[in-house]
Amino acid sequence: MSETATASHATTTSESRTQAVEEARARYALARPRTRELHERARDFLPGGNTRTVLYHPPFPLRIARGWDAVLADVDGHEYVDLLGEYSAGLYGHSHPVLIKAMMDALAEGISRGAHTGHEVDLAEAVCARFASIERVRFTNSGTEANLMALSAARAFTGRDQIVAFRGGYHGGLLTFKSGPSPVNAPYDVLLADYNDTDQATSLIHDNAGTVGCVLVEPMMGSSGCIPGDPAFLAALRDATSKTGALLVFDEVMTSRTGAGGLQGRLGITPDLTTLGKYIGGGSSFGAFGGRAEVMEQFDPGRPGALPHAGTFNNNVLSMAAGYVGLTQVYSPEVAESHTAKGDQLREQLAETFRDAGAPFQVTGVGSLLAIHPTASQVRSPNDLADSDARLLEVLFLDLLELGYYMAPRGYMALSLALTAGQLAGFLRAVDQVLRVRAALFGEV
Ligand SMILES: Cc1ncc(COP(=O)(O)O)c(C=O)c1O
Repeated sequence: MSETATASHATTTSESRTQAVEEARARYALARPRTRELHERARDFLPGGNTRTVLYHPPFPLRIARGWDAVLADVDGHEYVDLLGEYSAGLYGHSHPVLIKAMMDALAEGISRGAHTGHEVDLAEAVCARFASIERVRFTNSGTEANLMALSAARAFTGRDQIVAFRGGYHGGLLTFKSGPSPVNAPYDVLLADYNDTDQATSLIHDNAGTVGCVLVEPMMGSSGCIPGDPAFLAALRDATSKTGALLVFDEVMTSRTGAGGLQGRLGITPDLTTLGKYIGGGSSFGAFGGRAEVMEQFDPGRPGALPHAGTFNNNVLSMAAGYVGLTQVYSPEVAESHTAKGDQLREQLAETFRDAGAPFQVTGVGSLLAIHPTASQVRSPNDLADSDARLLEVLFLDLLELGYYMAPRGYMALSLALTAGQLAGFLRAVDQVLRVRAALFGEV
């Protein structure tokens, strides 16, 4: 093709992608009058009609009326197989009888008690038994809070203020480095390195050995697209922090569901501190930070000069009671292993579906956490997504919704235990169908 012909082909391709997005949005909007109406009403009270940024997508976001098992029904009456699993907090599905019973029983005992209960002891014991690095744990209301507390614990313990984190990292609304540091971030002194770049990260740690108090890392970068950390990269972080006296903090808010002992168990790496969240509250609000006893004992309120850690709802009975039965009666170590294997299998099948169709999508992830990326090239770090085309993912997302399958608009999925083999097979067929119908669009790489 001549240069002029190539340029004109690229313009046509770009135009057809934009047009496909516009048509898919229009089709979505037409089928959801009640959703639109509620969005318009919400805009009068909530900025942009939104109180949780990640849920927004154009032209106006999905609004769910109810859910059961692994199914969601929107306010316009459409039903979807739920592959998103509440961004990984919904591991148990929408109506697990064991969890519902635990919550109802806890409520029947009295809701807000203003005192310790037995429930938090049960859950703390189960969490310490489950994750090798956690000798002592404290509960919070969210993963964000858990990370903030872990950083404060590390800074107080080491007497050093600097934190090493990673470009593309997400540790909560106040600790996001997805496009560099966010203007709403907590004002910590943060040094950023590239994910999976061992030399860069270890040099940063060694060069600032006297001032870096901890390294905060997701063993799989979650929000930036389920990009697994290379085992050698994570092991090098362990080694560099041990040598320099900094603490290694694994943010396992998303990944703790991996295998019997979290991703750290799979990797055989023991961080000094670990943060948790999501499903561990049994579907109710939750966060936790824990680790080496000597670091955590700073918070023992019986000690002179103990660090404070407040939170009215830290031991709320719904999260404590549901979390405990979830971890001990439902998501046992054996179930965690088999669910992780199921996710690994789906990821491979999905990748094969894209490959067979010659479509420009990659699938990354670990176990039951996976993400689809609109790019033909391999994804090892957020930088590899620079030339991906978000329009292709939006068309895929909206087409799959139309066929009754819900994933995150960014292509993220966190498989729940409620998903059946039939629903997963149906999802693969739906993806295949979209790829065939959209062959012309997806083929124009
Ligand atoms: C890795 C990671 N850390 C922290 C958080 C923040 O957790 P929360 O939304 O409960 O504040 C999230 C949430 O998605 C996460 O994925």
